[in-house]
Amino acid sequence: MSAIPNPVSYTDFYRQSIEDPEAFWGAQAKLIDWHTPPQQILDVSKPPFTRWFVGGTTNLCHNAVDRHLATRAEQAALIAVSTETGSEKTYTYAQLHQQVQCAAAVLTALGVTRGDRVLIYMPMMAQAVFAMLACARIGAIHCVVFGGFASVSLASRIEDAQPKVIISADAGSRGTRVIPYKPLLDEAIRLSAHKPSAVVLHDRGLAPMELVAGRDHLASALEARHRDTPAPCVWLEATEPSYVLYTSGTTGKPKGVQRDTGGYAVALAASMKHIYDCRPGETMFTTSDIGWVVGHSYIVYAPLLTGATTLVYEGLPTQGLDGKPNGAIWWSLIEKYKATIAFSAPTAIRVLKKQDPALLKKHDLSSLRTLFLAGEPLDEPTGRWISEGLGVPVIDNYWQTETGWPIISMVNGVERKPSKFGSPGLSVYGYKVKILHEITGEELTEPNQKGVVAIEGPTPPGFMQTVWHDDARFVNTYWSSIPGQQVYSTFDWGIRDAEGYFYILGRTDDVINVAGHRLGTREIEESISGHAGVAEVAVVGVADSVKGQVAMAFAIPKDSAIVNDPEAAKALEAELMRRVSEQLGALARPAQVRFVAALPKTRSGKLLRRAIQAVCEHRDPGDLTTIEDPTALQTIQQMVGT
Ligand code: PRX
Repeated sequence: MSAIPNPVSYTDFYRQSIEDPEAFWGAQAKLIDWHTPPQQILDVSKPPFTRWFVGGTTNLCHNAVDRHLATRAEQAALIAVSTETGSEKTYTYAQLHQQVQCAAAVLTALGVTRGDRVLIYMPMMAQAVFAMLACARIGAIHCVVFGGFASVSLASRIEDAQPKVIISADAGSRGTRVIPYKPLLDEAIRLSAHKPSAVVLHDRGLAPMELVAGRDHLASALEARHRDTPAPCVWLEATEPSYVLYTSGTTGKPKGVQRDTGGYAVALAASMKHIYDCRPGETMFTTSDIGWVVGHSYIVYAPLLTGATTLVYEGLPTQGLDGKPNGAIWWSLIEKYKATIAFSAPTAIRVLKKQDPALLKKHDLSSLRTLFLAGEPLDEPTGRWISEGLGVPVIDNYWQTETGWPIISMVNGVERKPSKFGSPGLSVYGYKVKILHEITGEELTEPNQKGVVAIEGPTPPGFMQTVWHDDARFVNTYWSSIPGQQVYSTFDWGIRDAEGYFYILGRTDDVINVAGHRLGTREIEESISGHAGVAEVAVVGVADSVKGQVAMAFAIPKDSAIVNDPEAAKALEAELMRRVSEQLGALARPAQVRFVAALPKTRSGKLLRRAIQAVCEHRDPGDLTTIEDPTALQTIQQMVGT
C-alpha cells in the first residue's frame, strides 16, 4: 500500500476530506488495484449525482480475491459456520478463487454478461458469497434479496430488477426449523411479470425441490461441467454499477439502491483501515446477513478487499453447532478463529443479555479488539453491558443501505477519541452532516437542537449512485424533502452536541426497524388491506425492549361487528398475520392486529400514524389541531391503556 498522508488528528483528517476531496480520495484510491488509473477523481457536473474515479477501470472481485493470490493463497479467506446444519468449513484465498471462478463460468454459460442482473435469494451459505463475487467478476449486477422475505416481496424485486438468472437454494433454516425457499421462489416468479431465463439451485438436502424443466438447474450439475472453465475478471468503469440492493421507504414500492464499482471498493478499503481498524490477515466476524447492506459491505466485500478472513455465520446467536442451545456460540467462534473485529446489531446483544452473563467470560477473547454495533439505536444499558462483559470497547456506527458504509462513527483507526454512550460519534470523513430544521430547512447550528439529519453533496465514494433505473425517484425522494436546498435527507431525526457528537432519534418517515431489519410500514399495510375482510389499515412501529421496534396494525374490518366480537376479531387477526408472513416474511408480521371502527386522520384525509405510534408508546400525541375525529384516537388510546 502506498503512503497515505498521516495527519496528526481526526479533526485534520476530516478537514482534508471536506476541503480537498480530490486529494483525499485520490490518496485513498491507492488502497485498491486499478487496471487503468482514474483520470478524474471527482465529477460533480450534474448534482446531486456524484461520480468518483472517472476513467478508472477496476474489478471488485479482482480486488477481493485474485489480488491476494500472490501473497495469501493459503490464508483463510472465508470460514462458513452454520449452527443450522452443524457445518464448519474454511476456504483459503486459492479455494475461494476456484469457487468464484467456477460460479462465474456457470453464469457466463447461462448467457449472463456485463450489466445483466442476477438475483440471489439464498441463506447464509458460502455459495451465496461465491455467487456475489462471481457476478462482480463478470460485471453482472447482483441483487441480493434477504432470505427472510417471502413471495410478494421477492416478486416486486424480481419485477423491478428483471434478472436474467436467479440463484437460490432448496431451503433456509432458523432455529433448526427448515424454511423451504423453492416454493416461495416459484410463487414469486409466478406473480412477477418478468420471468428469468434460468434458475440455479443449491441443494443442501433440507427440503425437496421440484425442478421446472428448461428453467431450473441444479448448481452441482452446472458446476461439475465448469470446474475448470476460466472466467477472467472483466475490467469495469469505476462508475459502472456493481449491485442493486432493495430497501424500504415511505411508499410500498421498494427502492433499488444502486452502487458503483470503484468508489465502493475505495470507500470500503478506507473504512477498514480508518474506522474498523481491521488489518490484512486478521479475522472479522460480522453477524449480519448478506441480504442486508451490512452483509454486503462487511461480510463480503470489505474484509476480502483488505486481505482479511471473513467469518460467515448461519444461525441464531444462542444455538451451538450441535443444534442445542448455546448462548456463547459467537464468543466460542471468536476464540477459535481469533477474530479481532466483531460487528453485530444491538438487537442481537439484547437477546444475549437474557443469557447467563458468565457465558461472556467462558472463552478467551484476547484476540478481540473492538465490537462494532449498527443498524438501530444502541441504548446505554445494552452498550455498557456488552462492553464491560467482553472487556472490549464497543463502537456504535450509524449509516444506511443508501450510504454503504458509516456516516457517523468514532474513527479510531485515525485517532482514538472517547466515545459517549448513546451517540454513534462524529461525522465520518467525506460526509458533510448537518442538522436541519424540518420545515424551514435552516441549519440548526446551536448544540442539542433537534432536526433532520442531512448530508450536503458531493456525497463520498461508496454512496448510492441513484435508484435503479429511476433517477427521478432518487432526486425526488432523497434530495427534495428539505425546503429551499438540494441536500440528501437521511429521514432520521438527530441532534449534535457542543463537541460534534451526534445522537440519532428515530425516523422521520414510515420506516420501522424490527430487530435491526429495516421495513416499510406501507408494504405491511398493502398486504393487510389486500385481504377481503379489511377496509383500511394503519401500521406503526412501536418500541420493544428486545427488537427495538415491532409492527402494530390497527384495521377497520369491512364487517363492523368484528370490532365488538372478540372471537371473530381473534380469527381475523390470525388470518392477517398469516397473510403477512406468507406474502412478506415472518419479520414483517405485526405483533398485534387490533380492530377499530375508525382511524385518526387529518381533515384532508391523511392518516395520523405518528399520533397512533405516540399513544401506543404511552407518549403525548402532540399537536392534534388538524385531527378530523378525535374519538378515533381516543379509542386506540383506551385500547392500549393510556
Ligand atoms: O434509522 C437509522 C437506523 O437504521 C436506518 C438504516 O437502516 P439500513 O438501511 O438497514 O442500514 C443499516 C446500516 C447499518 C437508519 O436510517 N440506524 C442505523 N444505524 C443506526 C441507526 N439508528 C441509530 N443508531 C445507529 N447506529
